[in-house]
Amino acid sequence: MNQLWPQELERFHAELEAVNLGPLWASIAAFNSVEPKAKPIPYLWKRALIEQKLEKAKRLLEVGIGSAERRAVFLINPGMKDLQPYGWGGATQTLYAAVQVVNPGEHAPPHRHTSAALRFVMKGQGAFGIVDGERIPFEPGDYLVTPDGSWHEHMNEGNEPVVWMDCLDTPFVMAMNVSFTEFYPDRQQPVRVPIDYSARRYAGGMVRPVSDRKPRRIALARYTWQRTCQALDGLSEFDPDPVEGFAVEYINPSTGRDADGRIGAWMQKLPPRFRGRAHRHVHTCVYYVHRGRGYTVMNGVRFDWEEGDFFALPAWTWHEHVNLSDAEDAYLFSTNDLPLMEAFDFERQEDYTEHDGHQPITGVFTPLMPEP
Ligand SMILES: [Fe+2]
Ligand SMILES: [Fe+2]
Repeated sequence: MNQLWPQELERFHAELEAVNLGPLWASIAAFNSVEPKAKPIPYLWKRALIEQKLEKAKRLLEVGIGSAERRAVFLINPGMKDLQPYGWGGATQTLYAAVQVVNPGEHAPPHRHTSAALRFVMKGQGAFGIVDGERIPFEPGDYLVTPDGSWHEHMNEGNEPVVWMDCLDTPFVMAMNVSFTEFYPDRQQPVRVPIDYSARRYAGGMVRPVSDRKPRRIALARYTWQRTCQALDGLSEFDPDPVEGFAVEYINPSTGRDADGRIGAWMQKLPPRFRGRAHRHVHTCVYYVHRGRGYTVMNGVRFDWEEGDFFALPAWTWHEHVNLSDAEDAYLFSTNDLPLMEAFDFERQEDYTEHDGHQPITGVFTPLMPEP
């Protein structure tokens, strides 16, 4: 058989596409990529920019009224803007992340959905959540879980706005076409157990109530900042991990697995002048800078961060964290899709071995800043 001329081949490709067919010979390199080519890009959002937009949202919207069921501004990864709508809210291809504010007296009504959700309280006192009948106080630095299908609502009974980070696996759920949402028939769900019930049941931290030998889906709904710090302080009596510093992951104490079945979460402490070695992995992360000042190098570009900033780490991206302070610890809260990657046996990691484990810096990221 004669080989087709390039023009003829191109015409044939167009002919196939017109009838919704595709030529594998022209697509196989894209399908079988030698290594992942992530659509999301390494990116950083400044606290001042997010706060400015949230302030505007506070003026324009009242929570619980009209369409404003929740008042949150979410992170859109510029590499995913072409996915609709709004890139399915992706900070990475699986993780949605947002900053939500609830004003005194406001009540975000109960609902439940297929997406799993977690929160990290950034600032403000006086807010509560009710998750599957348990009323949970929200204190700064607390980490809270709302696994898929659990009824949840939030109210601010204090005197100041309360702000937290939300993270959901919405982009993953949307990509799988499995998103369902239900609205609770009443304005508030009934409270079924004493306040902060699950945290009080696990007050010991190292032991499990015997009834939880049969795993509970939400064994612990609230992970307090105080207990997380205790764990990090204990680790800090020893040498830091050369890549991560001192890092802990939030787990379900009845199973030992991730606190949420689909979204992982960490708190990590970088001691003063810590300069982590670089590595990369296929799981993706969204970082929130809880405290401190430093930078992260992602694929050779330096992303400077300070308290309140967010940054996204796409798949298979070299990264290393640095604390710039001589005296203060830096704390990075992060969420990840490691549970998903491990469920499908996708997870893969690699250490950066050149230049003593540090990437040469080829550029400095310029973040978008708030309007004057
Ligand atoms: Fe929700
Ligand atoms: Fe990492």
